[in-house]
Amino acid sequence: MASLTIRKLDETVKTYLRLRSAGNGRSLEEEVRVILGDLIQGRPESSAARAPSVAAPDAQSRAPRRAHDEARVTLIIGGGVAAYKALDLIRRLKERSIHVRCVLTRAAQQFVTPLSASALSNERAYTDLFDPSSEFDAGHIRLGRDCDLIVVAPATADLMAKMAQGHADDLASAILLAANRPILLAPAMNPLMWNNAATRRNTAQLARDGVAMIGPNAGEMAEAHEAGVGRMAEPLEIAAAVEKLLRPPPPRPLAGKHVLITAGPTHEPIDPVRYIANRSSGKQGFAIATAAQAAGADVTLISGPVDLDDPAGVRVRHVESAREMLAQVEASLPVDIAIFAAAVADWRVAQAGEQKLKKTSAGMPPLQLVENPDILATISKLREKRPPLVIGFAAETEHLIANAKAKLARKGCDWIVANDVSPATGVMGGDRNTVHLLIRDGGAISVDSWPVMTKEQVATELVGRIAETLSVKTPEKTS
Ligand code: C5P
Repeated sequence: MASLTIRKLDETVKTYLRLRSAGNGRSLEEEVRVILGDLIQGRPESSAARAPSVAAPDAQSRAPRRAHDEARVTLIIGGGVAAYKALDLIRRLKERSIHVRCVLTRAAQQFVTPLSASALSNERAYTDLFDPSSEFDAGHIRLGRDCDLIVVAPATADLMAKMAQGHADDLASAILLAANRPILLAPAMNPLMWNNAATRRNTAQLARDGVAMIGPNAGEMAEAHEAGVGRMAEPLEIAAAVEKLLRPPPPRPLAGKHVLITAGPTHEPIDPVRYIANRSSGKQGFAIATAAQAAGADVTLISGPVDLDDPAGVRVRHVESAREMLAQVEASLPVDIAIFAAAVADWRVAQAGEQKLKKTSAGMPPLQLVENPDILATISKLREKRPPLVIGFAAETEHLIANAKAKLARKGCDWIVANDVSPATGVMGGDRNTVHLLIRDGGAISVDSWPVMTKEQVATELVGRIAETLSVKTPEKTS
């Protein structure tokens, strides 16, 4: 099998690869693998969205700027062995089109030189609190404010103690005290120092003060035979944390809306130990709850028995049976949007045994089934408290669209998400889904067929469609 040496590639290709992989947060090798994979599968370059257009070796300076275009970071390099990694961090930030201005503490200069920091950042590096040659008056104030974020890497135990106490006897601590910008620390120290009660106190105080932290990681120390928690996070990890902090907060199109979601199967008791159930995993409903919460909604998730963790920031009500689910749904009203993704059992045993049913010579116990309440239909037909948007699911194994259209009319909901759950599709319990969105618009029904997606992507799309619909409807309501 032939191997490819990236070092030997043409300069233009290398520049393109370096920028593209940095943009996508991958290693060069991973980026090459993605490009080749896309090529072989005939996909248009899927990950190229964040790739720079490189026409010539000097294209870095002309590469299109990203979202945090003019982002500026003041990087304070503390005095520790990990300071050498701060030089790599400068490169990683510059690759992301982030402007970096470095400050080195006196101790940092024992490990790296201001010259290296300034060569890599293309900027003067700052070292002194009282520097007559600085073009900045009160430089510590400017350096702590003429930026979007202050990063301290490595953040030594001493520097963190100074910060926690509010000292300002050198340029770095003065900048940190005078700053009105967010601060990210990448601590690095010996594990005993990290675990020392004083450092623990300082770390807790800094967290209370709103200072963000990345790491430290566990691993080998520079000191021979020492290992533990105290290694500085890797430059790529710090760069990712920086990007996250610089990124504008995501839009919250469902802020102020209450979304109710049912998910999972229901268990209908036969006796205290047996029940009727189905293969629903609850993954799709949970993914919708997560996406709606991320879109700013106040989310109530009513879930049958599932093997999933409760989504963060979501109010979860756990139920067993269809009747319990209906009771919880009714108790949660009014809501703005109700999404019924649960695979509710259609029938339950009329008289569930109070004791475990026994095998007897009389043969099998006669299990009489009765119909469960249809939660979707019940809520869709409410006169008062009917949610303005009611969405049902149609899991079908044949005649998908026709059955879904009939269901839309029969249940009285506004939208139906139809999916084929034939065993061959692997949808039940699986991670992917192919859905069709049916929307009732007056007398007509529109059908929008989506390509195969992960359940998370389906959830994001669905929440996006809901947000779009609400944004169109809202002005009408207020006029
Ligand atoms: O009738 P069918 O079970 O196929 O309908 C599916 C839709 O109806 C789903 O949205 C499901 O959550 C909902 N449903 C319900 N209560 C039932 C049965 C189904 O809410 N008893």
